[in-house]
Amino acid sequence: MRKAHIITFANIKGGVGKTTAVTNIAYLLATELKKRVLVIDSDDQGNATKALGVRDLFDRQHETLWSALTRKAGYQDVIVESPYKNIWVIPSTKELKSAQNEFGRSARGFKLFKHLLKGVEKDFDYVLIDTKPQINVLLQAALAASDFYLIPSFPEPDSYDGFLDLVAECEEIHDEENDELHLMGVLISSVKKIPAHEQYLKFIGKHLKSANVNLIKPYVRVSNAVATATLHACPAVAISSGRSVKDDYLKLAKAMIKIADAKKAPSRPNLAKLGVLKEEQADEKNWRIKDSQGDEAVELL
Ligand SMILES: Nc1ncnc2c1ncn2[C@@H]1O[C@H](COP(=O)(O)OP(=O)(O)OP(=O)(O)O)[C@@H](O)[C@H]1O
Ligand SMILES: [Mg+2]
Repeated sequence: MRKAHIITFANIKGGVGKTTAVTNIAYLLATELKKRVLVIDSDDQGNATKALGVRDLFDRQHETLWSALTRKAGYQDVIVESPYKNIWVIPSTKELKSAQNEFGRSARGFKLFKHLLKGVEKDFDYVLIDTKPQINVLLQAALAASDFYLIPSFPEPDSYDGFLDLVAECEEIHDEENDELHLMGVLISSVKKIPAHEQYLKFIGKHLKSANVNLIKPYVRVSNAVATATLHACPAVAISSGRSVKDDYLKLAKAMIKIADAKKAPSRPNLAKLGVLKEEQADEKNWRIKDSQGDEAVELL
């Protein structure tokens, strides 16, 4: 039987490119690669809902993630057609903030997305779930229903805060709730051609490899189109100035399809190896660069 690939984008650290990745990859999977895509906005900030142009297109009483979860509805009852071919959205509203109180202590918590997505393979090839930067019942429920989780990150050490806690949580969900859940990899965006980023990427690449974690290539370069697209409430790859970012996200989307379609699941991360980053970071020689590689290098690609 056909399978829909369900992918949760997660990082406990905020502002590291999760929503940008979800919306741009969804757009390219749908328009360039002809996949039928469902995006679930599971963050009460509603940024993916905005970026996919559906903010004013839905009935707030009925077609939201919150209404689906509280009414125990299936995805069919709440999906909203986006202005883009092949993309549907389950929008977020502020009520989602109450999810932890409402479902956090109930045994139903883990099953929320499994129930929502029952039969989803009939209608969709890919389900991308955007999440809030926090371990909460919605993230746990999304992971319990997913085939993969993917960790968007920026090329700086702060983006790595909480990384181990997140992977440990996901691996526990693998063991206790969903043995089909695998780490697709780490996706790094907003990369500049500067020595600090080059050094950091070299360092983190080596570190992740030693812990069996895939660093998905290519990196997404920093792009002014991402900010422009925010003003237009659309994905950056949909606007004409977004050529470089489109190039990067398209290659990434193809790399993701390859991983999703592979017969063999990615290896499981080695938590003990992941955990030693702090000690490695403390050793400045491992990744710090000389101050003399100065300002003039701060140039965009
Ligand atoms: N390739 C890029 N080039 C330039 N800016 C980028 C790029 N990717 C993301 N950004 C910017 O980084 C900021 C954070 O991105 P985004 O909103 O996708 O992160 P997030 O992880 O979803 O945040 P949150 O945790 O608040 O949901 C935004 O201002 C976005 O425009
Ligand atoms: Mg976001």
